[in-house]
Amino acid sequence: MKRKILVVTSGGDCPGLNAVIRAVVKRASQESGLTVLGSIEAYNGILTDPMEVVELTEKEVAGIHLKGGTIIKTTNKGGPFDWVVKTKDGHRTDDRSDELIRRLEHLGIDCVISIGGDGSQRISQRLYEKGVNIIAIPKTIDNDLSCTDFTFGFQTAVEISTDAVDKLVTTAASHNRVIVVETMGRDAGWIALSAGIAGGSEVILIPEIPYDVEVVAKQLNKKIDDQGYAIVVISEGAKSIDTGGYYVENREELGAEKRLLGGIGGRLAHRLKDLVNADFRVTILGHLQRGGTPVAFDRILSAQFGVKAVELFLEGKYGEMVSYQHPEIVSVPIAEAIKEYNYIKMDSNLLHTARGLGICLGDK
Ligand code: F6P
Repeated sequence: MKRKILVVTSGGDCPGLNAVIRAVVKRASQESGLTVLGSIEAYNGILTDPMEVVELTEKEVAGIHLKGGTIIKTTNKGGPFDWVVKTKDGHRTDDRSDELIRRLEHLGIDCVISIGGDGSQRISQRLYEKGVNIIAIPKTIDNDLSCTDFTFGFQTAVEISTDAVDKLVTTAASHNRVIVVETMGRDAGWIALSAGIAGGSEVILIPEIPYDVEVVAKQLNKKIDDQGYAIVVISEGAKSIDTGGYYVENREELGAEKRLLGGIGGRLAHRLKDLVNADFRVTILGHLQRGGTPVAFDRILSAQFGVKAVELFLEGKYGEMVSYQHPEIVSVPIAEAIKEYNYIKMDSNLLHTARGLGICLGDK
């Protein structure tokens, strides 16, 4: 009997997406009568007319594990429950989930493998509750999904950010400057904290610990006196205790992921320049952190996740998210994974280590 898996990549792109798609196809190709299809641009491929759905064979996925991005495209706008429709006065959102389900049935889809982050897996859970056979794979450079040690893409973002900090150290040291490096991460500070420790920065500011600008200034003046320069790594979602956080835009059409973050590093530098005896420069790493080749760790994790997802399908275990719980690859209910946002916990060893290294986290 012919069976069909539909693969969907949604939300922001992330290194390792193609490696997951390849792993799904490779594992599925070992079963007879199992076809893998890909919907172009998340669920848009199913909901547009004519549908944009491609068959993914071993030929299509050959060598793609090296490539950044996703060969079946993605979007972080709307979704089947909040389909964005432009109107004269702006936009409205329609619930097209029933239509999506009818279209999946028409295509004869037995299972959807949804590769996405926090927002995408909320959609997966709602579709599962409406009867769709769905299996989730946790993707995001932000590492902000719970119930897995790591999401794929995170280690690559940390590697890119660490490489940037390394480069900025040499220029900061040559000019006796303070360089503020802003990372992505949304409301979790995983990338900033990891790259800040790996890159040997003097200050790390994360959303989980609101910072006091006076405390940061004190550390920087000390470091300028001691060594002449300093690096501050700040996460895009960081907040000061008095003026809060900063975002560029409130994108209402994006549903849950409303704010387009970015720019807090510049604001911080502006406030610090009268308090610290040094010149400031700011580097926003932005989408560089999402581009290019995944590091080996992410390729391996992507392969493990892709293989496991197909095996869950073969067992008929739906509504589950594949998860890395060292050293095993297991699965957890999607509902559990989306229950709590994966903030850095205050008793985390990474925070303890940062403080042990004398890194200022903005609170004391
Ligand atoms: O969730 C991944 C992420 O890169 C966040 O770190 C960032 O805030 C956001 O996506 C940026 O989204 P966009 O692709 O819309 O610029």
